[in-house]
Amino acid sequence: MSEFLTTHCIYGTINTCPTITVGIIYSHRNGDNMAKTILEVQNEILRLKKEKDICILAHSYQGREIIEIADFVGDSYALSVKAKSVPNKTVIMCGVRFMAETVKLLSPDKTVILSNKNAGCPMAEQFEKDEIDYIKKKNGNLCVVCYINTTTELKTVCDVCVTSSSAVKIVNKLDEENILFIPDINLGTYVKNNVKGKNIQLLHGGCPVHASITESEVLKAKAEHPNAKLLVHPECVPEVVKHADYVGSTSGIMDFAKTSDADEFIIGTEQAIVETLQFECPDKSFYPLSVNMICRNMKATTLVDVLNCCKGTGGEVIELEEKTMKKARKCIDRMIELG
Ligand code: 13P
Ligand code: SF4
Repeated sequence: MSEFLTTHCIYGTINTCPTITVGIIYSHRNGDNMAKTILEVQNEILRLKKEKDICILAHSYQGREIIEIADFVGDSYALSVKAKSVPNKTVIMCGVRFMAETVKLLSPDKTVILSNKNAGCPMAEQFEKDEIDYIKKKNGNLCVVCYINTTTELKTVCDVCVTSSSAVKIVNKLDEENILFIPDINLGTYVKNNVKGKNIQLLHGGCPVHASITESEVLKAKAEHPNAKLLVHPECVPEVVKHADYVGSTSGIMDFAKTSDADEFIIGTEQAIVETLQFECPDKSFYPLSVNMICRNMKATTLVDVLNCCKGTGGEVIELEEKTMKKARKCIDRMIELG
């Protein structure tokens, strides 16, 4: 079997959509064309979520105005662990579709709402369940390790799920030696380089946002900020990762920057992390590795989307087949058990 089993998946196009936080929101829904400030909309959301027993979960790539009204903000791993213990009847997930599906898998009795129905993760849809099942069986029943950035359907043929913060740890703990890691070739390469004694096969999937960053952008950023530490997400290509002072998940990068003695950092992940770090550590300086590191799917959710979810007029209620949920949940449960 070749090291890279197939090449039919490419990263896709990169579109940028900068978050613009304006002072006024115009809501024309239901005949309400009154101008509202961000604070007024936030207060309405806070009132409705209390009244209707709603919990708002937000991935750390969301805009500041959404992070401020969320009950819990975290990376993919932290959000899935949190989803298990949320007491509320309704959960609004401000993030992308696979995250809302993960919450539904872990809390099937809750009403789970994806804040903006168009917010998907391109990487999650790069492989079909049947092709992975075929590759798995054709190669002597490989142990399929899937990144959490996959559809629920795809998870039904996977053995264990991982996130960027738990991938190395979990693969190290597996008894199985022959592994197929999907879909991210870059996270997979990072795992391969940090785990000994396993035969890890990779496919050509990946994140269009992180994988678009080139080594020359790294060299340029380092030349502009010679004293800054470079912190990158493992979804970046190996030519970028090799220059990093720290490689880790979204939360890992934030923790490193907050606790480090250094004063300056080049951040190799989504722009929201630069903003949040600059907000939380005003005495330190944070520079984006590239202005292209903006995930338009993560930025699809607006504050008005969240308000409409709370009112019951927006978002998408996640519905998954019982049988599919049961099968897909196994690899998530194994992730939580090993993570
Ligand atoms: P983490 O939240 O695991 O760092 O992943 C980043 C990401 O790209 C989420 O889609
Ligand atoms: Fe998917 Fe990449 Fe966006 Fe994360 S940053 S949601 S992996 S496209």
